[in-house]
Amino acid sequence: MTMTTFTRRLALLGTVFGAALAASTGAQAQGQLTVYCGVQEDWCRPMVDAFEKATGVKVSMIRKSSGEIYAQVKAEASNPRGDVWWGGTGDPHMQAAEENLTEEYKSPKLPELNEWAVRQWEQSKGRAVGIYSGALGFAYNTKLLAEKKIDDPKCWADLLNPKLKDEVQVADPNSSGTAYTMLATLVQIMGEDKAFDYMKKLHANVNQYTKSGAAPAKATSLGETTVGIAFLHDHVTMIVEGAPMKAVAPCEGTGYEIGSMSIIKGAKNLDNAKKWYDWALSPEAQKLGAAAKSYQVPSNKATPIPPQAPKLSDIKLINYDFAKYGSSDERKRLLTKWDKEVKAQPK
Ligand code: F6P
Repeated sequence: MTMTTFTRRLALLGTVFGAALAASTGAQAQGQLTVYCGVQEDWCRPMVDAFEKATGVKVSMIRKSSGEIYAQVKAEASNPRGDVWWGGTGDPHMQAAEENLTEEYKSPKLPELNEWAVRQWEQSKGRAVGIYSGALGFAYNTKLLAEKKIDDPKCWADLLNPKLKDEVQVADPNSSGTAYTMLATLVQIMGEDKAFDYMKKLHANVNQYTKSGAAPAKATSLGETTVGIAFLHDHVTMIVEGAPMKAVAPCEGTGYEIGSMSIIKGAKNLDNAKKWYDWALSPEAQKLGAAAKSYQVPSNKATPIPPQAPKLSDIKLINYDFAKYGSSDERKRLLTKWDKEVKAQPK
């Protein structure tokens, strides 16, 4: 090797190392962020990637169900490890707000949001904001239902059909925000006594209480259960992929979620948490939901509503009381009662 080639190579190496060093210190300069993600992993990942690309912030992400994230945030309160809690049903976010586990924040993006998303922010005293919305329902596997010669279920009441013994799947409301939404929905539709009677009867038909709310939709698509209770958008994800399933908005009416976002109290990366918060409310970030086959209704008025999203105006929606069912006392009381009176029942 001649001296010039050697020098050139050395210079090239210097450029490569220099660039790598600049990139790493650049990322360091932008810092870190820990996101507790409450939606499907398929949507959490592209969000993290896009945010890292847009900002240079390095993100660690943990995906869990809504009730589990709430429990983790509470357990870590004296030494918070998470910075921002993005996604999952609104009730546990409301509970965390009331328990002073999350921070107040007024994003400059608030004026761009739908009224229901801002209401969530107001009701939580500025600690949680709506990022998407979606209605609860159930779906059945059309092949299994036909094989078992069961009439198409159209109402919550139809799920008590004895022919559906061990054929219904739903999540556990302690871990899952979806299942808690169902519990609170039934209480609001039927009154508490009748709702608990209903859930005790339904228990005979339940084959499994899953940890995650969307799991029963997947199980229905795979023919592992005849009926799955979940948010309608989670059923639609399976139907779009070709599953032999029909989604149903129950005839008695149904509840809905305001999927929410909160900044964790004592966040170690507060500035980056705010950066994520503002970005996650932008149409640019919210469009990633539909791209990941998540068909909720986005909260920013300028984000296109995915054509596949169940039309909330066609569904008999109840006037879900988020302040009451997201309150700490009520959520704790209903979950304890469910454990004692429903889950503990023999089959
Ligand atoms: O991501 C799908 C989804 O149904 C969200 O719309 C909802 O907020 C979340 O999952 C609820 O999940 P879980 O019931 O597991 O808490």
